[in-house]
Amino acid sequence: MIRSKIAGIGMYIPDKLVTNNDLSKMMDTTDEWIQERTGIRERYYADRKAETTATMGMEAARVAIQRAGLTPQDIDFLIFATLSPDYYFPGCGVLVQRGLQMKEIGALDIRNQCSGFVYALSVADQYVKTGTYKNILVIGSEKHSFGLDFSTRGRNISVIFGDGAGAVVLQPTEKEDQGILSTHLHSDGESAELLAMYNPGTHANHWVDRELADFDEAENGQMFMSHAMIDKAQNFPFMDGPAVFKKAVVKFPEVIMEALTANGLVASDLRLLITHQANLRISQYVQHMMNLRDDQVHNNIQKYGNTTAASVPIALCEAWEEGKIKRGDLICLAVFGSGFTWGSALLRW
Ligand code: UT7
Repeated sequence: MIRSKIAGIGMYIPDKLVTNNDLSKMMDTTDEWIQERTGIRERYYADRKAETTATMGMEAARVAIQRAGLTPQDIDFLIFATLSPDYYFPGCGVLVQRGLQMKEIGALDIRNQCSGFVYALSVADQYVKTGTYKNILVIGSEKHSFGLDFSTRGRNISVIFGDGAGAVVLQPTEKEDQGILSTHLHSDGESAELLAMYNPGTHANHWVDRELADFDEAENGQMFMSHAMIDKAQNFPFMDGPAVFKKAVVKFPEVIMEALTANGLVASDLRLLITHQANLRISQYVQHMMNLRDDQVHNNIQKYGNTTAASVPIALCEAWEEGKIKRGDLICLAVFGSGFTWGSALLRW
């Protein structure tokens, strides 16, 4: 039986350290509030000009490819997950294909926000299992700092996001005790507008009747982006934090249990659970619900903030670099975010 194994993993964190106190100089917030509500102490921001979501993804990919013992020319398919792409279109995948001078391989872009990496991993897994491709590069990368509202108006979102990238190379394995056992993907679009960036977009206010998205029909009705949209801060993400929080703490345990049950396993079998780093309070609640010890989870939101599609591969890479993961260990990756979308992947390292 062929499964996909992670043959190489890498991460990239930009240099610019931004503490909670740095943010409190720009908006009405405090280190105390941010740490108490989110667990975040600091995050890193990309260089405004020299770094993009694609270039950070390439940095992480270079490490993953090299650790897999390959060169970029050996990769035969790539998948890029982000919510902060370099361009509205084309996606970041082709920029990586160009930047790493890869062959004319397929480059797929995934738009599943915080769930993006597990969605991408799931797609890659199918290609590997069916023998379609042998060396698939999967990247999650975000440059949030370029699109945040750093005024007090945007503080509930701006304090949580950070920049960074993570990447893995998937390869086939026939070993019994290695590889992705299963992936589980879900969505519920009923709450799509509760965590979203409405513009630029083509909705012309079709879906969005929220008071916050008070559109100027005359100017906005036929445009991706207008001065009025910018004046009303509609070019920034919107989040109903408490509503997202409530759904996340239900869906995380549910989708982790789904993965374990599908494979006849239980939570105590896990060497490590890595949840999307959305909020330390969410991750700790999930740990408690799953009855896991501290050494069975890896959280790093304290250092990096919420890096959305990059958070799971960064946490996985960091845990591996710290020696927390050994060959054959059972690992569960679990994600939840905008859409709402959520999912899990259960694998043996
Ligand atoms: O990664 C994608 C998925 N995202 C998530 O999972 C995020 C889930 N949600 C959360 O993590 C939390 O809801 C937040 C961290 C975003 C917010 O924490 P909260 O405990 O839910 O706070 P809240 O939104 O209910 O706001 C409580 C108060 C409000 O003030 P009033 O109305 O009580 O006077 C906010 O205006 O905290 C205020 N507030 C802040 N105060 C200081 C909101 N953001 C800040 C801030 N600094 N940065």
